[in-house]
Amino acid sequence: MKILACNIKNKMDRLETESYVEQLGEIVSEKAKLIICPSFLFLPLFKGGNYSLGSQDISSFNEATVTGEITAKQLKSLDVSYVIIGHSERRNYKHEINIDFINKINHAQEKDLRIIYCIGETEEEKEHGETFDILEKQISEVLNNVVLKDIMIAYEPIWAIGSGKIPTIKEIQNTIEYIKDIVDEKYEQQIKVLYGGSVNVDNIEVINNIEAVDGFLVGGASLDVTNVKKMIEIIDNKGN
Ligand code: PGA
Repeated sequence: MKILACNIKNKMDRLETESYVEQLGEIVSEKAKLIICPSFLFLPLFKGGNYSLGSQDISSFNEATVTGEITAKQLKSLDVSYVIIGHSERRNYKHEINIDFINKINHAQEKDLRIIYCIGETEEEKEHGETFDILEKQISEVLNNVVLKDIMIAYEPIWAIGSGKIPTIKEIQNTIEYIKDIVDEKYEQQIKVLYGGSVNVDNIEVINNIEAVDGFLVGGASLDVTNVKKMIEIIDNKGN
């Protein structure tokens, strides 16, 4: 099964979300596991489909009383099964750092939520040939300090997010293999690694042909249900 995780971000209001849910209907797929990550606000609108629910974030505070935060317990009560942690937009705009990700992972795990931990390099780091060093750091500084349970990694080059640009197929393959190798080496575990950053109906097929890619984290292209269905169709149509 390939994972297709749809990151709706802060897009869509209530009416748009209701229409999205209706169009989504019952997804049937042989080879794709669909995870929809809507705004926290609209999680309850997604009841009953043939897909899993994810949240785009989770509080780094667990027991403390903190205004505006959303806890693992609350997410669990809305049938959320996955949580995105460490997205580059949270690192960048909200200044989230490793200790936040470690706390978030711990809290998510306490409630049996599965984690999609995002990592990725900037354009400048890529140009300086630092991609592997950066990824190694983002992995070890967080995963050294948590239990490696129900965690998958989403490799999202920051320069590819929302830009329409993607790395070459060889680069995606090499980088995802590198991530898997270091996790295996350091923690003796095989984990799933997703690719994210400008995935769309036109490029998903070639990326899906890379054996090491276990799935996708899709932003912009997932805002249109027609695209989501097409992407599932493409994944389903891949020969074995
Ligand atoms: P994008 O976003 O598909 O719009 O590039 C991906 C993401 O930020 O997870």
